[in-house]
Amino acid sequence: MGRMRWIDTLEDAAAEKLPEAVHRYFRQGSAGGVSVAEATSAWSAYRFRPHVLNDVSTVDLSTTVLGTPVDAPILVAPSTMQRMADPDGELAMARGVGAAKSVVGVSSNAGTSFADLGATGVPWWLQIYIVRNREITVQMLDAAVEAGARAVVLTVDTPVVGRKEDDGETVWDVAQPGQFLANLPVGEWTDDDLAKADDLTPDVIGWLAERSGLPVVVKGVLRGDDAKRCADAGAAGIIVSNHGGRQLDGSIATAQALPEVAEAVAGSNLEVYVDGGIRRGEHVLAALALGARAVFVGRPALWALTVGSSDGVTRLLTDLGTELDHTLRLVGVSTPSSLTPDLVAH
Ligand code: FNR
Repeated sequence: MGRMRWIDTLEDAAAEKLPEAVHRYFRQGSAGGVSVAEATSAWSAYRFRPHVLNDVSTVDLSTTVLGTPVDAPILVAPSTMQRMADPDGELAMARGVGAAKSVVGVSSNAGTSFADLGATGVPWWLQIYIVRNREITVQMLDAAVEAGARAVVLTVDTPVVGRKEDDGETVWDVAQPGQFLANLPVGEWTDDDLAKADDLTPDVIGWLAERSGLPVVVKGVLRGDDAKRCADAGAAGIIVSNHGGRQLDGSIATAQALPEVAEAVAGSNLEVYVDGGIRRGEHVLAALALGARAVFVGRPALWALTVGSSDGVTRLLTDLGTELDHTLRLVGVSTPSSLTPDLVAH
């Protein structure tokens, strides 16, 4: 019997440490769970058309994302409730990401203050939801800018929060105050103030860019025409994402959506990223070949944080990088930027 791949052991090992409601919250999708179930198999469905007789003795995975150098095009997606995975939560996540010389997305619902995150010196991107009371969004944005966020990731797939069909205790029953929403501005906010804005249009991209002075990355795009609208409105990047299957259930797999999106914005300066179900070097390679500049991983980083704190997160990123390096050699390509769509069979 061979040894099990470490990444494949993570979720079960995390499940042993986490309260049942938290494990379910991390892993679940919305509604019937169709999109979450399909995400990884959609990447595995691609086939490669490798080159042979190319010199692959030197492979270099390093690249930049919005100008920030990274050791490999594998970044960590923003997610909530990281203090349920590790007492140091987002801080431990950021330190682990920093040791792998990558970039971390930080949720606007994070349980760690932006100032503490900024003090780590690890490059981080603020993920933001625009809520109905714009004053809340503005104050959060200003605090993140002050703390050195390098980009604003605007999540646009959440005009309303996806329906989770929980049976029994939920994460909200077990979470302690302080484990999330550490950056909510002080104030007497009502549920309506805090509800997601459902009237957003592309002009919000320019508003965010102007207010923050930072590049804006739009997260949750699944169509070429919408990607074009984001580009025209001044976005610096987009993340092809269905929120890990946690918003519209039955939304197209990101593996399927990526080629159309990449084609729609080819030739513009927009950087295209993708997330959802990416678990192996082969998946990363397919994403890069189909037009992504980098990928984000969500749940695997939560499992790695639970199991091994910062070191676990570093190991996850370096293991995926090692697999990507190996796979690049097998398709006969030396750098991510030399990957082309013809390497993937449709
Ligand atoms: C998320 N995701 C998410 N996205 C976002 O924009 N803001 C957020 O606060 C959160 N929170 C969150 C919590 C949990 C528990 C999960 C699993 C995910 C979505 C995340 O950024 C990313 O899009 C997906 O997780 C990517 O899919 P995989 O890699 O988890 O399959």
